[in-house]
Amino acid sequence: MILGVDYYPEHWEEERWPVDAKLMAEAGITVVRLAEFAWSRLEPRDGEFQFAWLDRALEVVSAHGIRAVLGTPTAAPPAWLVEKHPDIVPVDAWRRPLGFGARLHRCLANPTFREHSRAVTTAMARHYAQHNAVLGWQTDNELTGNRCYCEVCAGRFRGWLQHKYGALDVLNRTWGTAFWSQEYSAWPQVPLPWQTACGPMAHNPSLMLDYYRFASDITVEFQREQVRILRKHCPEHFVTHNFMGLHDAINYYDLAEDLDFVSWDNYPESSAALPHDVMRGIQGRSFWVMEEKCGHAGWNTMGPIPRPGQVRAWAWQAVGHGAEAIVFFRWRSCRSGTEQFWQGILNHDAVPGRRYREVAQVGREFRQVGPELDGTAPRNDVAILYSYDQIWALQIQPQVPGFSFALWLQRYHEGLHRLGLGADVVSPATDLSPYKLVVCPPLYLLSDELAARLDRYVSNGGHLVVSARTGVKNENNYARSETLPGPLARTLGIAVEDYDAIGDRSNAIGLHDGARFKVGLWCDILRLEGAEAAARYLHDFYAGSPAITVSRHGEGRAWYIGTVPEERFFRHFLGGIAGELRLRRVADLPKGVEVACREDEEHRVLVLTNLTGQRQTVRLHDPCEDILAKAIVGDNIVLDPFGVRLLRTTS
Ligand code: GAL
Repeated sequence: MILGVDYYPEHWEEERWPVDAKLMAEAGITVVRLAEFAWSRLEPRDGEFQFAWLDRALEVVSAHGIRAVLGTPTAAPPAWLVEKHPDIVPVDAWRRPLGFGARLHRCLANPTFREHSRAVTTAMARHYAQHNAVLGWQTDNELTGNRCYCEVCAGRFRGWLQHKYGALDVLNRTWGTAFWSQEYSAWPQVPLPWQTACGPMAHNPSLMLDYYRFASDITVEFQREQVRILRKHCPEHFVTHNFMGLHDAINYYDLAEDLDFVSWDNYPESSAALPHDVMRGIQGRSFWVMEEKCGHAGWNTMGPIPRPGQVRAWAWQAVGHGAEAIVFFRWRSCRSGTEQFWQGILNHDAVPGRRYREVAQVGREFRQVGPELDGTAPRNDVAILYSYDQIWALQIQPQVPGFSFALWLQRYHEGLHRLGLGADVVSPATDLSPYKLVVCPPLYLLSDELAARLDRYVSNGGHLVVSARTGVKNENNYARSETLPGPLARTLGIAVEDYDAIGDRSNAIGLHDGARFKVGLWCDILRLEGAEAAARYLHDFYAGSPAITVSRHGEGRAWYIGTVPEERFFRHFLGGIAGELRLRRVADLPKGVEVACREDEEHRVLVLTNLTGQRQTVRLHDPCEDILAKAIVGDNIVLDPFGVRLLRTTS
């Protein structure tokens, strides 16, 4: 296990650096991330590179046994670059250029910006290729889909479409441009989704989806240029990027393809269990937390300070979900700039206090039990399908206000988590055969190919849960013509006869076991065609008709949830399935307490975290050994507020 911190030597007097490095080392910190915004210091004038200050900083930290991840500084283009090339800034949907200031004032498609990004990356890579204090690289900082509306992007978008569709008549057909006279007869007529007389979201949904995909591809292409340079000059170093958990303006699967591993920035407001699982699922392997919250958040106003134990609980929660490194953001609150009130481990006064001691405790614990965790990883019986195309298509047309992919994802994940059931969050392209249960938030865009794979999964004995608004469109965001749920109708044994977008009116459903739940937003009116009803509506003109169904198909079973039930339904419903399938559950958990599990061939390590400020009792299914306290614990264990227990089981 690695403990690290994000450090900005360029913000502090050089005489302070050795004091900082000594304090870091005493806390068990062995890695710093440096320089990801330091472009104006690294290249103060066009083509004039200055590395001496960073060399000295590396010398100071490495004298204390600390090694570095270097960031390419391209998220903060310097003033001289924007002055010289004002056209590198992004443009909004109203075609207004966004000026210099804050950060991110660059369009990633702009060729001049690209040229300067390559130059600074090459200079850094050459200079640090042989430096033994450097472990690896972070590309840029928190990349997002380049949803820019400049003329360069317009030209690139048309080129991207030409490559995808070949001929304009194919594009016209695929998008259905006969609607509102939008048929294109020359490529330059194809717009970006600029502001229209009817608002920005009134564009053709197929165009919108392609624009989101294109903007994501531009970012991936931008990063790829940096990765190629780093790999060429620094073959010994790893290359990663700091992702943003549930951020969804870029296809993270694509962005991760060029990287050695995923890192992400965790600023939890509620539980981070879901974003941790999403991040692990991007490459299906362990990850780093490159920025972990260690104080209150704040630019111009501040949020509450983490309670005693909370920073430690966040760190261990991340480890349970597969993190190999926790890098805290940031070492010390900055005295200047936009983030003056974003709290570091140390406050402005640099006096080590409660949060420093807590980080040091994490450092000691990592040393104590790190070896137990080496080679272990989360392994789960349940998968949840995750897809940026689905997220985007439902953002473009949410069906009813409040309905989103994220809502379903969060409810399924929370339901499983409360049952003590870990889940892998995986792309639809993943091999699903190892999973006993696969849960699908709306597969609103359903290709014949994905439907066939899911059908095969069930036929071969898999268990599948499918959500309302599945099969509505094809992969081009063009409505399918079959009765819903389209190509999964046979697998699910149902037909959606009609649907009622009830929005914030509510209905209710009754299950066979007598349980009743409120439902909202959406009600499918279903006809059974081989499936059985698992729940029926209680109100309105479709009272008594099926709301949830289950169908036997081949060796497996498939459920369809045709409405949006309240949160507690998910625990009940998934608990029933988990019982029938005898899925391994380690504990019954009160709200706010989590268990994550890492294992290898020999043993499993459970990481129990109490993310609440109250004492909590957890009922474990088997007694375990507490490897931090070196004691055997029985079935009922009590967790202090923000308490952490690390348990080993051999079962
Ligand atoms: C992150 C970002 C950091 C810092 C932090 C606090 O999103 O990567 O550079 O800005 O937020 O605002």
